[in-house]
Amino acid sequence: MTRPAPPWALLAELSHGCPLRCAYCSNPVELISRSAELTTAQWADVFRQAAALGVVQTHLSGGEPLLRRDLTEIVAAADGAGVHTQLVTSGVGLSEPRLTALIAAGLRSVQLSVQHADPGASERIAGARSFAAKERAARLIREAGLPFGLNAVLHRANLDALDAVIELALDWGAHRVELANTQFYGWALRNRDALLPDRRQIAEARARVERWRPLLAGRMELVWVAPDYVDGTAKPCMGGWGALSLTVAPDGTVHPCPAAAALPGLDAPNVKDRSLDWIWHESKAFNLYRGESWMREPCRSCELRTKDFGGCRCQAYALTGDATRTDPVCSRSPDHALVRALVDRAPAPVTAPASGPPHTSGAPVSGPPHTPG
Ligand code: FES
Repeated sequence: MTRPAPPWALLAELSHGCPLRCAYCSNPVELISRSAELTTAQWADVFRQAAALGVVQTHLSGGEPLLRRDLTEIVAAADGAGVHTQLVTSGVGLSEPRLTALIAAGLRSVQLSVQHADPGASERIAGARSFAAKERAARLIREAGLPFGLNAVLHRANLDALDAVIELALDWGAHRVELANTQFYGWALRNRDALLPDRRQIAEARARVERWRPLLAGRMELVWVAPDYVDGTAKPCMGGWGALSLTVAPDGTVHPCPAAAALPGLDAPNVKDRSLDWIWHESKAFNLYRGESWMREPCRSCELRTKDFGGCRCQAYALTGDATRTDPVCSRSPDHALVRALVDRAPAPVTAPASGPPHTSGAPVSGPPHTPG
């Protein structure tokens, strides 16, 4: 086998603790407890090894990374290793002194989440009082002059408010707005029936996005993360398995993507036991679905395989119980009827836009607990 090219990005899940309880959270249903998190020194070592491996950028995420009291030291360690740092945050807990210290330590950009443009709806979706904190965080980021992205995860309860979310991003001074249709992993997979939009919502949202594009040109970047269940097109998940990036969980477990903890048979390695170099080049977890040799038909002979890499392994497993199958969201997959049935089953929104995910599945709609002990 040819030696894999170096990774360029590392997702650092600093903590699975979070003040919010979003039903669309893609973190694993089995959250890692705070007591099992890597220490400051262990994270510093991760960033030194990552830089040596070729990583140039890290997303400091969670959960909520601001829950780490040593976040400034972690940012300084990554920056000192020569790795560009982006903070991915709910904004809850971002004070002016904290942001000043983070910038002094080398923080380069911030991605702030928002759940809706309406404060009440945003807090219902987030499951916590948080809108004022987000508004304040946006002001601080803007005043600090950092590159600022606003991220809204879209689903049945907020897709119809897309225009208002874009206007909020303009109002808050974001440089980029990311409209990310929910990806169904972890808690979002558990809550899928309540979150999945219908075809009418997606078609209308897509038309609105196209109307906004010329209006935003030169003012704010607009990113639309496709709803792959509805589109019938497999996404090139992670740019290919073990191709571009690594995810380090709060306890040091390393996966090729944030959702892979749910996959069986990976023997996921941990930075406490193995070097990042060995993990990237040699581990079973990173080699199992690397390249094309694992592919079956129809991917094996499909001309799209060099573009979508067979789609998402975690999604194939979630929908079929077999991670080697073609991602069923692809209209060429023999399992695509599974996805069509799910989308066509999604009922119309109960109320829009001012309600959290409605309880239509019979199962309670809830996100993860605030801070796993
Ligand atoms: Fe794991 Fe797509 S989320 S491969």
